[in-house]
Amino acid sequence: MAQEGGPALANSLDSFAQSKLAELEAGHLRRRLADTFREDGIWVSRGGRRLLSFSCNDYLNLTHHPKVKAAAAEAVARYGAGAGASRLITGNHPLFAVLEARLAALKQAEAACVFGSGYLANAGIIPTLIGAEDLLVIDELAHACLWAGAQLSRGRVETFRHNDVDHAREILAAHRAAHTHALIVTDGVFSMDGDLAPLDDLAALARDTDAWLMSDDAHGLGVLGKGRGSSFVTGTKAGVDLQMGTLSKAIGSYGGYLCASAPVIDLMKTRARTLVYSTGLPPASAAAALAALDIIEAEPEFAASPVAKAQAFTRATNLPLGESTIVPIVLGDAVRALEASDMLAREGFLVMAIRPPTVPVGTARLRLAFTAGHPNEEIARLAEIVRTRILPMAA
Ligand SMILES: Cc1ncc(COP(=O)(O)O)c(C=O)c1O
Repeated sequence: MAQEGGPALANSLDSFAQSKLAELEAGHLRRRLADTFREDGIWVSRGGRRLLSFSCNDYLNLTHHPKVKAAAAEAVARYGAGAGASRLITGNHPLFAVLEARLAALKQAEAACVFGSGYLANAGIIPTLIGAEDLLVIDELAHACLWAGAQLSRGRVETFRHNDVDHAREILAAHRAAHTHALIVTDGVFSMDGDLAPLDDLAALARDTDAWLMSDDAHGLGVLGKGRGSSFVTGTKAGVDLQMGTLSKAIGSYGGYLCASAPVIDLMKTRARTLVYSTGLPPASAAAALAALDIIEAEPEFAASPVAKAQAFTRATNLPLGESTIVPIVLGDAVRALEASDMLAREGFLVMAIRPPTVPVGTARLRLAFTAGHPNEEIARLAEIVRTRILPMAA
C-alpha cells in the first residue's frame, strides 16, 4: 500500500517526467533554456560568445530604442511595475484606452482590446465567439495559440491545407449548414514559414458562407503594409473581421490585442476569460508600445526595411523571394537543423533550429528573422555561408 504523504506519488511523477525527457532526448527534441543577454536589438551574448542574432522577433530593434525604453522607464517610475489586478478590477490603467484607440486607428477598426499577451489574446478571443454548436475552420500551420483557443472553444474544429482557400471552401460547404456560427482562422504571416495568408480570398469565402474571419498578425504589425500589418499589404484593408496581434515582436514591448467592431470588443471586455481572470498588462508595456507606434507611424521606410533585408538575403541565396521578415531554410530532420545552427554559431551568427512539434515532422529548419539593424555586409556574409554550406545540406 502506498505510504501516506506522497513519496509514491512523487516517484511516479518524477519517473513520468524522466521517461518523457528520455523519449524527447532520443528524438533530438528535448529543449533547453539558454541564458541570453541581448545587448541591443541585434547582438546577443550566450554561452560566453557574442553573436549576431537572426532569431529575435524584434524586427525594428525597438526593444532597445532610447525613446521606447525611456517611455517604459518613466511609466514604471510613475505607475509602478505591475497592474495590480485584472483590468476589470483595478488594473485598467488609462494608458490602455490610449493604446487601444491608436491600435484601432492604425488597423482601421472601430475599437481594440489589449490583452496580457498574444497567447492570452487567442486563448480568450476564440472561445468567446465560438461554442459547442459552432464550426472553426483553421489553417493547418496556424500558430499554437490559435489552436489553444480552438481547443478551448469546444466547437467542431476542421483543418484546411496550408493557404488552400478551395479546401477551406469544401469544408465550409460540407459542414457550415449544421453549425450556428463559423469562424475561419489563419495567421496573417506564418510564423515559421514567413509566407502570407490569402486574406482577400479568405474574406470573400467568409462573406459567401456567412462565416467570420480572424487573422493573427503577430509578425505583420509594424513591418508590412506601411506598419499597419498583413491586412494592408495590397494597399487597401482586407475584410478581416478580427485582427489579432501582439505587441511583443516589431513593437518591441509585450502584450496582445484584438481590433474589431465596437460590439465585439465590448463583448471581449466583459466575457474573454483571459482578460477577465488575468492581471492587466503592466502600464509600462503600454507606454513602450505607444512610443513604438509613434516611431512606426512617423517612419514608413524604416518600418519596411526588415522585409527589404529579408529580400536581399533571399535574392543572394536564390531562395523564393521573402514575403515578410521571416525566411525559413527547411533541412528535414532535427539533427541536420541543429548541425546547421551550430555551424552558423561558429561563424558568429545566432540562427536557432526549429524542430517538431513547432513545425511538422520532417520539416525541421533554420528560421531567420531579419531586422532593420542588421548590417548589409553581415547579411551578405550570412547569405554566402547559407548558399555554399547550408543549402547543400538540404539536398
Ligand atoms: C503567430 C503568433 N501568434 C501569437 C504569438 C504569441 O504572442 P505573445 O508572444 O505575445 O504571447 C506568437 C509568438 O510567439 C506568434 O508567432
